[in-house]
Amino acid sequence: MQDILEQLEARRDQARLGGGQRRIDAQHSKGKLTARERIEVLLDEGSFEEFDMFVAHRCVDFGMETQKYPGDGVITGWGTINGRMVYLYSQDFTVLGGSLSETHAAKICKIMDMAIKNGAPVIGLNDSGGARIQEGVAALGGYADVFQKNVLASGVVPQISVIMGPCAGGAVYSPAMTDFIFMVKDSSYMFVTGPDVVKTVTNEIVTAEELGGARTHASKSSVADGAYENDMEALFEVRRLVDMLPLNNREKPPVRPYFDSHSRIENSLDTLIPDNTNAPYDMHELVRKLADEGDFFEIQKDFAKNILTGFIRLEGSTVGVVANQPMVLAGCLDIDASRKAARFVRFCDAFEIPILTLVDVPGFLPGTSQEYGGVIKHGAKLLFAYGEATVPKVTVITRKAYGGAYDVMASKHLRGDFNYAWPTAEIAVMGAKGATEIIHRSDLGNDDKIAAHTKDYEDRFANPFVAAERGFIDEVIMPRNTRVRVARAFASLRNKQLSNPWKKHDNIPL
Ligand code: HXC
Repeated sequence: MQDILEQLEARRDQARLGGGQRRIDAQHSKGKLTARERIEVLLDEGSFEEFDMFVAHRCVDFGMETQKYPGDGVITGWGTINGRMVYLYSQDFTVLGGSLSETHAAKICKIMDMAIKNGAPVIGLNDSGGARIQEGVAALGGYADVFQKNVLASGVVPQISVIMGPCAGGAVYSPAMTDFIFMVKDSSYMFVTGPDVVKTVTNEIVTAEELGGARTHASKSSVADGAYENDMEALFEVRRLVDMLPLNNREKPPVRPYFDSHSRIENSLDTLIPDNTNAPYDMHELVRKLADEGDFFEIQKDFAKNILTGFIRLEGSTVGVVANQPMVLAGCLDIDASRKAARFVRFCDAFEIPILTLVDVPGFLPGTSQEYGGVIKHGAKLLFAYGEATVPKVTVITRKAYGGAYDVMASKHLRGDFNYAWPTAEIAVMGAKGATEIIHRSDLGNDDKIAAHTKDYEDRFANPFVAAERGFIDEVIMPRNTRVRVARAFASLRNKQLSNPWKKHDNIPL
């Protein structure tokens, strides 16, 4: 009997060694953790339960029958993050470069099925040379099986991808279909084709880092939601994110103990808006002053900086924040900002996370590059996303809410539940100067008259009261009271029930 138990231990030890000590050392020398070390960092201590440790591939081509590693290059299972269940897979680059075989894919699909059934997030730690070349179409089929599961899981359980090594070809499309992608700087890459193919086809010479490194995807392409310094930081940030999210679409977001006063008055907010209405101020300051303990988990912070998206807690409950940022492009909505915010709003709505919208927007960014790039369709994404969202929606207009952008940013007309404005709000079709130059075109050239008309327009519209008279603004609130008012509003909406007409699915302008 003792022999049998020892055999199991020996088999386990062999599986835990992955591709062997030499390759583990090579992994470490690149500044990367191994697949198992990553799991240890990500999960609560001792909580990991492994599946399929002894699964082996079935390939007999190209001498593969002699190259079998228990587990077949991916570690799968479940565990907890701060006591809450998650499923995960972690690709082991030391085994055949973490390449995806038919059986490797089947292991991933198995835990995804379990995650959907049991209602817990799926976290994928990706470090793989792509489809296992020796397996050919069997590996391609494996990828497609994973893609299909990603689609079925979308909107049912949160899916988070961490890119911690190469990720090329079809390997990028599974992460691309998940809710969040985190990358590690200088050791992770995502591209459809690598630098060599790029050079052959387009003659462009580009490094892997420039083409598909973490900085590129976090700041230029928006494929990644965050770029982190090393494996440890990326994994700790995943823990922080998971803490904010519900486990599935049937659950409310978690409520955590908080150490902040629910009646906190922020006098400094009364002077946040500069006297000059065109001067910028940092919207981060408002977000942090509203949030419990000033904690803001920002999503896509390096992309489309004219809009902020991310999660805060209010009285312990998760709230998604979308906020125009007057420091960048004066807070205008453009293609990138609309896409970024639309996707975030849809995530929140899919997972019952209430949305707080902070508005200071002078309109959509004009110009040929925006029009040729399809700003109409991309702007419509955000409009559509807010319009279809049934979660609690609280909006605060701090300053400008001009034109179509006023409508888009969770206005009353898009079923905003609480629409507040600060006394500094200006809700109008456009800025006073632009408006005057159109409706008093005949006076152009007469500076005194134009100045008088502009003043007249400002007096009439550069305030929140015209909108408040119509009930488009529920109340004009003191800036210093915003945290209290917003938290009370969300508390009153905890049992909100609203549903859209039955449909197979909508047809959001993609
Ligand atoms: C089988 C692979 C492999 C793969 C790497 N290895 N990629 N084995 N299939 N796809 C093996 C290597 O042979 C090597 O084995 C070990 O993994 C480590 O690889 P190295 O090349 O030594 O590592 P490194 O120098 O760090 O380079 C990593 C790499 C490179 C950039 C990922 O290995 C690479 O370019 N691999 C091929 C990538 C690729 O073209 N994949 C197919 C993509 S197409 P030993 O035994 O020496 O340790 C695709 C289509 C899917 O994925 C479409 C789905 C729709």
